[in-house]
Amino acid sequence: MNQPVHFGKALEAPACVKHQGAIEWVASVAALTKPDRVVWCDGSTAEYDPLCAEMVEAGMLQKLNPVLRPNSYLALSDPTDVARMEDRTFICSKYKEDTGPTNNWVDPAEMRGTLNGLFDGAMRGRTMYVIPFSMGPIGSPIAHVGIELTDSPYVVVSMHVMTRVSPRVWDLIGEKGAYVPAVHSVGAPLVGAAQDVRWPCNKEHKYIVHFPETKEIWSFGSGYGGNALLGKKCFSLRIASIMGKEQGWLAEHMLILGVTSPSGEKSYVAAAFPSACGKTNFAMLVPPPSFNGWKVTTIGEDIAWIKPNADGRLYAINPENGFFGVAPGTSLKTNPNCMATLKANVIFTNVALTPEGDVWWEGMSETPPPRLTDWQGQEWTAEIAKATGRKAAHPNSRFTVPAAQCPSIDPEWDNPKGVPISAFLFGGRRSDTVPLVVEAFNWDAGVYMAATMGSETTAAATGKVGVVRRDPMAMIPFTGYNMADYFDHWLRMGKRVEKRPHIYCVNWFRTDDNGKFVWPGFGENMRVLNWVVERTQGKAHAKETPVGWVPEFDDLNWAGLESFDREKFARVISIDPKQWRHELSLHDELLGMLQNRLPAEIRLRREQLGLAFG
Ligand code: GTP
Ligand code: SPV
Ligand code: MN
Repeated sequence: MNQPVHFGKALEAPACVKHQGAIEWVASVAALTKPDRVVWCDGSTAEYDPLCAEMVEAGMLQKLNPVLRPNSYLALSDPTDVARMEDRTFICSKYKEDTGPTNNWVDPAEMRGTLNGLFDGAMRGRTMYVIPFSMGPIGSPIAHVGIELTDSPYVVVSMHVMTRVSPRVWDLIGEKGAYVPAVHSVGAPLVGAAQDVRWPCNKEHKYIVHFPETKEIWSFGSGYGGNALLGKKCFSLRIASIMGKEQGWLAEHMLILGVTSPSGEKSYVAAAFPSACGKTNFAMLVPPPSFNGWKVTTIGEDIAWIKPNADGRLYAINPENGFFGVAPGTSLKTNPNCMATLKANVIFTNVALTPEGDVWWEGMSETPPPRLTDWQGQEWTAEIAKATGRKAAHPNSRFTVPAAQCPSIDPEWDNPKGVPISAFLFGGRRSDTVPLVVEAFNWDAGVYMAATMGSETTAAATGKVGVVRRDPMAMIPFTGYNMADYFDHWLRMGKRVEKRPHIYCVNWFRTDDNGKFVWPGFGENMRVLNWVVERTQGKAHAKETPVGWVPEFDDLNWAGLESFDREKFARVISIDPKQWRHELSLHDELLGMLQNRLPAEIRLRREQLGLAFG
């Protein structure tokens, strides 16, 4: 977007950088944003540790007690910069129709003009870091590389954990290879003698922008999560979904897990649940004691890249290298594997601090420690919380931690080939209507089920929490192109492979008359997973309903959960025609919006459901 210019000595790229186009691009961004220094990152500990120390010195990070939480830090963000901002996220394709009605579109030329203005001098007084990273094992045929330019050291250290930052990326792209260029600025230049703040960001302007035609990402004004760690949602989902459509693969908001039965049979399952709806928890599931001999292993907990293989199956990799997970609700009871993962080498953001220099969040223990410093740096006690309703940790507070530390990590988790998928699960947060589990009759019906999935909104994105919205494939904020074309791509992918995974819809979140979850969830989800895996093997029984196949009470293994009786099961599995007729009218809101490009298979399935419910 700018003319390349020379920019002093610092821009002399390291010898391993042979890509003239990339060198000129870095120079052009430096010329536009005008940082004081340019640093070429290599992903080493020798880079990570001093950067953290610098941030501790500057008050941007707090070092946690090295005995209780070795090599770990706490960052507290600006209270206005705590989650993804969907209304500030743009897909600037050449034609508006290609972006589609579920994304924000701005004409690319107009957006480039806006960004040129915002980025002009945006890095003044700061360092611009050049981060070469791979999404997926370096060199994997399913992986892709990117280069992020950022003025945030917090982003640099987070990218170290979440992606594979390495100078080997320069070798891979050589002189002319492809990479995804990603530019990020917190949008808070340090001019004159201005002192930096704890969490620099731009309160006025925030833009998270994707250019599909050139596969570029430009992010301005936020330092938080998916807004700033551009390898994650921006690259691995929005841009990658476009690459996948062009190249014949899928980029999905899915966890990947392995499940091994007592006889040693192993299957891999991928599951898409919207943000803060249970992916991390499901990926690290610990089977109940009565499931002696069953084992669940973790490949990924947020994103899957899935490609057809010569053997007729779909293979998936986790493109990430770490977990950026929701802290609240994580405990030894709900997710012991995750708690063990968090023992050391963690960057926590927006959780509470104990007087001993450790962390705490709502749900970590039943009774909170007597005194805490909350995520805004203020004194917090249970009494204060009672009087004011203030949370100790922000509901979207998170941890950043290396995946390899997870005790349930699968031995195949960084196999460049990926793992073969037997089942896709799609699930939302629904207090009613949607049953605990239902299997689609076939691929096309499964695509319809996933495409029309709804979920109650959560704190992972800014905006109202708890309202049901359609979230096709848990991808409403993450599909980088027209949603109708995305459905079509899913339908076609099913035709491309002989051994199609079975498709399921799940819902852990049905509530009773008091608003309490009926299904115990977490490790108990093993009972559903058991049924799913046996269905894919042709072993388990099911009952036909208008929406698909559901288990009957006796089809699930209830050992160790005798308190969950037939009556409770009926509450979570029932399909109420009245609720479903309303549900279908909600499907129509989305389908109507996508009308002019909607695939025929989707229309047909909607008609069938309409007839079934009368
Ligand atoms: P993102 O990282 O935003 O994509 O979220 P996620 O889908 O990985 O969700 P995560 O596993 O972090 O869970 C989010 C919240 O849902 C946490 O507070 C969990 O405790 C809660 N949760 C997860 N699984 C279950 C479940 O089976 N039942 C219930 N009731 N709550 C659950
Ligand atoms: C999500 O919201 O789905 C996340 C967190 O995984 S973020 O990286 O901020 O998108
Ligand atoms: Mn997510």
